[in-house]
Amino acid sequence: MTVSTNLTSNKHVLEWVAEMARLTKPDNIVWVDGSEEERERLTKLAVETGVLEPLNEKKRPGSYLHRSNPNDVARVENLTFICTETKEEAGPTNNWMAPKDAYEKLGKLFDGSMKGRTMYVIPYIMGPAGSPMAKVGVELTDSVYVVLNMRTMTRMGKVAFDMLGASDDFNRGLHSTLDINPERRFICHFPQDNTIWSVGSGYGGNVLLGKKCLALRIGSYLGQKEGWLAEHMLILGVESPDGEMTYVAAAFPSACGKTNFAMMIPPERFKGWKIWTVGDDIAWMKVGEDGRLRAINPEAGYFGVAPGTNKKSNPNAMASVAKNTIFTNVAKTKDGDVWWEGIDGEVPEELTDWQGRPWKKGSAEKAAHPNSRFTAPAENNPALSRFSEDPEGVPISAFIFGGRRATTIPLVIQSFNWTHGVFFGSALGSETTAAATGKVGVVRRDPFAMLPFCGYNMGDYFAHWLEMQALIPNPPKIFMVNWFRQDKNGKFLWPGFGENMRVLKWIVDRARLRVGGQETPFGWVPKAGDLDLSGLDISSEQVNAATEINLDEWEIELKSHGEFFDSLGTTMPEPLELQRKLLLSRVESMRKNKWASTPSMPPKPEART
Ligand code: GTP
Ligand code: SPV
Ligand code: MN
Repeated sequence: MTVSTNLTSNKHVLEWVAEMARLTKPDNIVWVDGSEEERERLTKLAVETGVLEPLNEKKRPGSYLHRSNPNDVARVENLTFICTETKEEAGPTNNWMAPKDAYEKLGKLFDGSMKGRTMYVIPYIMGPAGSPMAKVGVELTDSVYVVLNMRTMTRMGKVAFDMLGASDDFNRGLHSTLDINPERRFICHFPQDNTIWSVGSGYGGNVLLGKKCLALRIGSYLGQKEGWLAEHMLILGVESPDGEMTYVAAAFPSACGKTNFAMMIPPERFKGWKIWTVGDDIAWMKVGEDGRLRAINPEAGYFGVAPGTNKKSNPNAMASVAKNTIFTNVAKTKDGDVWWEGIDGEVPEELTDWQGRPWKKGSAEKAAHPNSRFTAPAENNPALSRFSEDPEGVPISAFIFGGRRATTIPLVIQSFNWTHGVFFGSALGSETTAAATGKVGVVRRDPFAMLPFCGYNMGDYFAHWLEMQALIPNPPKIFMVNWFRQDKNGKFLWPGFGENMRVLKWIVDRARLRVGGQETPFGWVPKAGDLDLSGLDISSEQVNAATEINLDEWEIELKSHGEFFDSLGTTMPEPLELQRKLLLSRVESMRKNKWASTPSMPPKPEART
């Protein structure tokens, strides 16, 4: 079989598409150009075939609802594989298959999988077109939902072939939904071939191959080889009232607040401060000529968590989904608008739930799936940074790591140095969420929020982070935060969302070396009074509980890090284990001297001198 298109004459592309078409045997092949006419045509087709349901054109212009198969609503970590020549290269935190076995196993599933279907050829760029950090991929898929999502999430179409030219350097992604059967579902990565094969799913991170598969798993592998970083991080700019701009990148595990933090609107107290979104999920970072770490967002849209999003928690996300948005697995109102748990307004009496069933107020079941999502173009975001398309990327001054932790981890703490900061990242823990299938709410180690996304051996990944120090003359400062600490009744101690600006302000001031800090055994925390809490209705007991460093809890924590580090085997870098032992040894001596955590609340007026 030969294939042809007026979009490219790249022989590597043409040969590979022909080869994959011989395997999957589609009825026809459609080359996606990214035009508006094409979007309309494919959207119409998706509506006619029941893939998309139009929403109320007045309330949600240009927007559609998609219901995925109920067995296919999240990433599947147990069915995700790194297929390197040796198992050691994939490491103990990844599922591994030998490339030959994986090609054979999935080859059988792909054989004839597109009979009676159309194969779409999606050329796309991750990163701004023409950026030296951007990468081209081509995804072949039999899902029109994938095409329409990739259009929002990437720079899709002719622009990608123009950037690729005659080069062979592009990611080869092959995807077929088959019959959406979990028994025949595999997401396989071949980093050494820059190839991804995904079968049996139609959902998000499993099938939008530019996102987690290329930008993180393959990206992190390439980053290690080439001396850069591909991270599960948001990127934001903080602008002060006098126009000073500071960029930070933050890694929080899936469904732990990246989109919210990246679009935050500061509270009244911070009048004149602005947060600008560069990215909400993924950062590619390389050392720039100025010796600073430069970050680009490889994506062009947001595949964000719907539940909990409202005009108070994230007004910019609500604006982002006001139009031209694809919603997946949310509930639908009687008048054809979307609904999810935590959206603004009264709970409607009746809804259609995420599975298309009638739903009544007071029902024990959720109307929207907990991992229901929106696919919204970045251009809809009122806070989109004007530097979000900068081909050189923005200079990062601070890294922030954070998880969902009911105990132990204080509101904010700064590392003593780079190695200690890498230790923070390597030991990151979080309660599991609905973003992946499996039990929700159990604490697991999720180093750098990359456990499901690191495309190679985790110990080697830690070593790469340690080695990056030598490559960055002006390295970012490193912090850890926790918005999710709870009181004994299970209530969040910290108000979160926009109020996180108070913590961010301290981080910016620390990164710019203009505020002091209080030394604790485990890092620097704000001195009493330095965390601006004015105008916030919160008791000093609550702040103390949110910022407390409890030696008993840290002892348990550090021991749990030890178990995790042990599980990584021989590639685990010694400096991080030494770091852990050092911190653990401090617990004993501090306990002996009855050390107590320092509260971050401003002293009472009468106590001021
Ligand atoms: P992925 O897209 O899965 O990578 O997730 P994410 O890290 O972008 O998470 P997102 O910002 O979508 O937040 C997930 C959930 O956490 C939502 O339900 C939010 O309402 C909630 N959340 C976000 N920020 C905060 C916060 O500061 N405090 C509290 N209590 N909840 C938050
Ligand atoms: C995540 O799970 O971290 C996501 C959503 O950002 S998905 O694209 O499905 O991976
Ligand atoms: Mn994510």
